[in-house]
Order: sequence, then C-alpha cells, then structure tokens
Amino acid sequence: MTTLGATPPARFVVIGNPIAHSMSPAIHHDFAQQVGMPIQYMRLLAPLDGFEGTVRALQAAGVQGANVTVPFKLQAFELAQQLTDSASFAQAANTLHFKPDGLVMADNTDGGGLCRDLDRLLKPMNIGLSMCQVLMLGAGGAAAGCVAAFHAHGVQHLTVLNRTAAKARALAERAEALGLPAVGGSLDHLPSDFELPGAPLVVVNASSSSLHGEVPALHAHWWARAVLAYDMMYAPSATPFMQSASSNMAQGTAVADGLGMLVFQAQLAFESWTGRSPDALQTLSRVRASLQAKAR
Ligand code: ATR
Repeated sequence: MTTLGATPPARFVVIGNPIAHSMSPAIHHDFAQQVGMPIQYMRLLAPLDGFEGTVRALQAAGVQGANVTVPFKLQAFELAQQLTDSASFAQAANTLHFKPDGLVMADNTDGGGLCRDLDRLLKPMNIGLSMCQVLMLGAGGAAAGCVAAFHAHGVQHLTVLNRTAAKARALAERAEALGLPAVGGSLDHLPSDFELPGAPLVVVNASSSSLHGEVPALHAHWWARAVLAYDMMYAPSATPFMQSASSNMAQGTAVADGLGMLVFQAQLAFESWTGRSPDALQTLSRVRASLQAKAR
C-alpha cells in the first residue's frame, strides 16, 4: 500500500536479449534492502531491432537508470549524449543514467568492478592492484572494457596476449595512448619477450574461450610468476581456465571466477544511481549460494 505523500520507489531495469538468466534484479534488490531504500528493478527483453525505442519509452516512463547487457552495449554507448572515460575507451556501455533534462549518460562499470574484485582478492597477500602488472588474455569487447579501469587503478603495466595478435597489439597501443604502459602480441609470447617491471603478476582471462570449454594456451613461465589468476566468466564450479590455472600454478596460488566482478560492477552502478554504498561482499556470498543451488 502506498502512503499518501510517500516517495515512490526509484525504478531501474536491466535490458538485454536474452535476459531471463540475468542475476541483476536479485543483486540490486539485495543492495536496496541493505541500505533500506525501496527500489523496483526489472528485467526487460528488448527486441533485437528495438533498443533505442525501449530506452525512449523508459525515459518517458520516468525510469532513473538501466543496466545494459548483450547484445546492446555498443548501442547504449552510441545513443548517449554524455560518456564516462571508461565507456568512451570501451566504446560500450553497461550502465545508463536517465537525467531529468532528458539526456542519457553512459558508463562502463565492468572494468571498475573487475578492479574492485582484484583488490579484494589481493588484499590477503598485502598487495594492491596498483602495485601489480596485468597479463590479459583476449582483446575483444570484454578486454577493452577493462583497460581504462586498469589505468585509473594505477596498474603498473599491461600485457595483452590474444589468438589474433594484431588485435592484442591494437588494444595495447590504445592503452599506451591513455598513459598505461602496455604491449600486445600472440599467445605464445614468453614473459621475457617483454620488458616487464618486477611487479606481482595478475593473469586475467578476458577471452570468451571458457564459453567453448577451451583455454588459451599460455607458456608455463607466465603461470610461474602469477600471484592470482582470474577468469571473467563465472560458473557454479571451476571454469576450464580456472582448472588450467590451478594445475599450472604453485599450490595455494589464488584462482577466482568473475562472479565478484558481476557484483562489484553492479555496486558501482547502484552507487552512482543512488549515492548509497551497499556491502558487495554480503551480496556476493548470497549470489554464490544461489548460483550453486540452481546447479544442484
Ligand atoms: P567479448 O565481448 O566476450 O569480449 P569478442 O569481442 O568476440 O567477445 O572477443 C572474444 C575474445 O576471446 C577475442 O579476443 C577472441 O580471440 P580472437 O580475437 O582471436 O577471435 C578470444 N577467444 C575466443 N575463443 C577463444 C579460444 N578458444 N581461445 C583463445 N581465445 C579465444
């Protein structure tokens, strides 16, 4: 029942096609409950040729913001009048803000979410991401979404290795133009092929190889140097990349999937929409339990 004069709940959506699998409503409702702020957050299946019309209808209905997922991240970037550095670099957006003046602001919180999760995982080792160098596998959209955040978090050096070497080199050149020291090449490169500072090494799988049950073949010397291996994909059990990392790295080296990145990218969107900061770790443990329960 709505009390006379009570402020209606803020409204948000996640737009995609398909969208039924999205965990974003559960994550954002968990955040809202934590900070005691009622919200409505719904899944929205947009027609493949109807993203812009969907956004206009949401604006007209007074919705405050949207998360955007496959296949609309490029269109979300293109229709916005204002862009954050991260969306601008990635040329893709996962978060839209619908301003009262009718303007759309696009952000990409995927990279920031990844960096928050990497910092969380490095903390028990008394390491901050800003002390580290990153080896990123893959040079597609997911990889591009992280580069500006690596720069903003003070990552020392980025190596991009990809099946198609030219794409890795192109992404590394764009990272360098941003001010992040970077090199790119094919997957068979050794650490010694590049001049790397003596910083702890974090290996991030930003390729979509796990979707095909495959793992980018990486020279053992990389694994020997890594303090953390991170797959941006997530699953109820260890992904092929995580299995490979565990069998190649010294026992006890940290290995993680991308569920934390999912929750932290949502936390960044929630913070910018509402100005409130929920405890993402509480939400992460609930989302992990729910993912595992669904798999049983
Ligand atoms: P996304 O938006 O998920 O990043 P994408 O832009 O199509 O999707 O990029 C997929 C990335 O995964 C690419 O870097 C791709 O390598 P290529 O540029 O050579 O195509 C990489 N990739 C996909 N399958 C792979 C596999 N089996 N082994 C290694 N890399 C793979």
